[in-house]
Amino acid sequence: MELAALTVFLLIPSLTTADLYLHIPRGSNNRLNEKSAARTNAQRLFDSQNNNRGGYNVGDKTDASASEENDQYHMTYFQSGPWQKYNNGSGKTFLNIEWTNQHGCGADKGSDKQKQNCVLVLQYMCQDDIPRSSGLSDTLGNGVKTKSQGYTAPPSLTQSKDQYLRRRAGDFDNDLGLHEPWEWYDKCYLRERNKGLFTADQKLKKNSWKYSGAIYTRQNPNGKKYGYECPEERDYFPYWHPTPWRDIVVMSENSSMCSHYQTKSFNVQPYSECVEFYSDKTTRKHYSKWNNKVDCEKAEGQWTTFHSYLEKATSYTEEKDCLKNKGDGLKYIWELPYDAEDLQKKECLIQLDKPHCVESPWSRSNHLGNGRDGLPLDYKWLLPYFPSGAEKRCVFRMRYNVSTDDYDPYNTDSRHNQNATSQVISPVQQDPYVTIGTRGALQLAINTDQTGRIFQDRSHVFKLLSRPQHLKHENIHNLNVRGKRGNIVQVYPAVEYDFAPNNLTVKEGELIHIQWTGSNSHQNGKPAGDGQSGSDGQGKAGTDRNNLVQINDLNTNFPTPYKNTSMWKGVEVKWFHNSDLTLSEQDLAISMSTAGYYSCLEGNCEDSVKNGRSVVNQLLDNAPASYGGAVLKFKLGTYHYMCTRNNNFTNRSQKGTICIKKK
Ligand SMILES: *[C@@H]1O[C@H](CO)[C@@H](O)[C@H](O)[C@H]1NC(C)=O
Ligand SMILES: *[C@@H]1O[C@H](CO)[C@@H](O)[C@H](O)[C@H]1NC(C)=O
Ligand SMILES: *[C@@H]1O[C@H](CO)[C@@H](O)[C@H](O)[C@H]1NC(C)=O
Ligand SMILES: *[C@@H]1O[C@H](CO)[C@@H](O)[C@H](O)[C@H]1NC(C)=O
Ligand SMILES: *[C@@H]1O[C@H](CO)[C@@H](O)[C@H](O)[C@H]1NC(C)=O
Ligand SMILES: *[C@@H]1O[C@H](CO)[C@@H](O)[C@H](O)[C@H]1NC(C)=O
Ligand SMILES: *[C@@H]1O[C@H](CO)[C@@H](O)[C@H](O)[C@H]1NC(C)=O
Ligand SMILES: *[C@@H]1O[C@H](CO)[C@@H](O)[C@H](O)[C@H]1NC(C)=O
Repeated sequence: MELAALTVFLLIPSLTTADLYLHIPRGSNNRLNEKSAARTNAQRLFDSQNNNRGGYNVGDKTDASASEENDQYHMTYFQSGPWQKYNNGSGKTFLNIEWTNQHGCGADKGSDKQKQNCVLVLQYMCQDDIPRSSGLSDTLGNGVKTKSQGYTAPPSLTQSKDQYLRRRAGDFDNDLGLHEPWEWYDKCYLRERNKGLFTADQKLKKNSWKYSGAIYTRQNPNGKKYGYECPEERDYFPYWHPTPWRDIVVMSENSSMCSHYQTKSFNVQPYSECVEFYSDKTTRKHYSKWNNKVDCEKAEGQWTTFHSYLEKATSYTEEKDCLKNKGDGLKYIWELPYDAEDLQKKECLIQLDKPHCVESPWSRSNHLGNGRDGLPLDYKWLLPYFPSGAEKRCVFRMRYNVSTDDYDPYNTDSRHNQNATSQVISPVQQDPYVTIGTRGALQLAINTDQTGRIFQDRSHVFKLLSRPQHLKHENIHNLNVRGKRGNIVQVYPAVEYDFAPNNLTVKEGELIHIQWTGSNSHQNGKPAGDGQSGSDGQGKAGTDRNNLVQINDLNTNFPTPYKNTSMWKGVEVKWFHNSDLTLSEQDLAISMSTAGYYSCLEGNCEDSVKNGRSVVNQLLDNAPASYGGAVLKFKLGTYHYMCTRNNNFTNRSQKGTICIKKK
């Protein structure tokens, strides 16, 4: 095939289509609490490149929509216990991530030939759970309004620290969501972009100092701002400067790529950036124009190597104490943390493990749904163990990287960028005409900013609790609810309600943490974007509610009477979200069936009852939208269960199975 002569550039605003949606944990796709079916602000926190309709609203603690962050529900998982110390197969917490990706992924399998290259990158970011107070803060937050945090570029490249702090204070709004800190974006805005990258025939803009910063990329040539995400870091992985993200797993189409990802991940490979100083010559700036050693040193900056870490081990203040073997199976390093203020001050850091690397689960193109055997695309995340025992506030991030072999994805760089002067023709052209030796030219649909493209979704803020002593050595599996209110066309590209994982098999003695979250603002109203508005479903319009009652058989739709249940008989409640209560088996069954509205058969045993609402609504309308749940040890057996409100035969099935197998 020969490419026809280059024709006019058709710069059509790119329409986004359905692409990567997280279901467990609930992906926001930049939604917050809007009642409309289409998200209000596609630039709220990150660049998803997804359809405006995807995503889940932030959870509410009660039956009312949260007006402040404290009334939002943060999913709360237990951290792993100190399993590395014993490494005997117990003390781990698992969260089964579920998502859908539209364009297919995975390696060729037999006759299933892939039609694109695909890599999935799963990451998280955590910090100590310091409540979000007013004023300046780097605290991860969902916010309560859908606007994005602001950004004001500096008037000049040389500014005092006071000027920078004033700029930041002027931009930051405590009511708005925050993932990456303000400085992260400022740094990205001011640093020169990596000029070695392939930009095809895209024209990347420049800033007011006439250079192109790292906010301009092939996929984002106009430097649009999305929260405080750095576009260059977003588009490339492994990134070559320090980042606040920790890598969980890379799912590559070919395991032969794993050693590349595992050695270049910032988890284990330190990266450098240019550090310059304020006029006192000692206080470091958080930003620099220079992205390489030579330019940095020419400008009298210090090209400095930084390390990522799981946590700082602040109790070790001397190198020798830090590096001593502590017998806990963790690796300690004495290095400069990526967020160091003082370059002279190395600290004791707990090193992250290299990311896990597996072949991506197979899914077909043009199908936003399940993978093999009708099972959801998933990954069992082993949650981290934080030795400090601190409670953590975190965000989960997933990227879906789709590329083609129209050009070699790994060996095409700036030398192949379109350049009329040097007569370089980019291997891909915007919507080119081609002739194939038949009559007339034909046009191909190619967006060069999207040929090689990343989609993304992120969770709302969640918490990781340190384990109480009696849970330190147990394995905990999380059991949650996915989906949102509405029928199939109303929820799409999100999914209808289901339990997740809806068939959970664990070994005898292992624990199950049952918990769910929902919102009271899923009205799914207008504007509906390119889908249908409306939120069909039982109970009060716009509300998510769930509960869990046993059924005898998956093929039936009537709950088992309590006196007949096998599921709750002999169950041990190892932890309950309301620590003031001690629950009997029956109390637990009541709590699960009323979504936490009651936790006992008689009397005032839960907060909801206090407000004079003594009777639970049959459709759970007055019960909380989210349920902090319980950590349970079931006895051997197989148990089926359903949700009484949402299960609606021939319209929606919300049922699941727990199987406790002999060790
Ligand atoms: C692993 O070791 C811990 C600590 O000694 C112990 O409490 C736990 O029961 C062990 N688990 C297994 C499966 O042996
Ligand atoms: C996506 O894949 C391309 C290769 O096609 C690679 O250069 C880039 O770094 C990847 N980006 C991410 C975020 O995975
Ligand atoms: C993975 O890559 C290697 C080396 O390029 C190749 O030999 C192998 O066939 C690939 N495997 C798959 C499943 O594509
Ligand atoms: C295009 O090529 C010319 C000649 O080699 C070079 O001077 C110029 O910098 C190139 N333009 C870009 C945008 O790289
Ligand atoms: C659940 O998974 C197990 C394997 O772990 C399988 O044997 C069983 O048939 C599945 N049950 C359902 C209801 O899908
Ligand atoms: C079951 O679902 C259908 C379709 O959403 C709805 O029309 C019907 O009212 C539901 N049943 C009940 C009892 O709410
Ligand atoms: C409950 O148990 C009783 C006595 O064992 C039995 O007769 C009845 O059919 C059971 N009911 C259900 C719904 O399982
Ligand atoms: C399921 O929904 C259809 C409308 O889509 C309705 O006719 C039917 O009655 C519903 N079934 C139940 C059990 O409500």
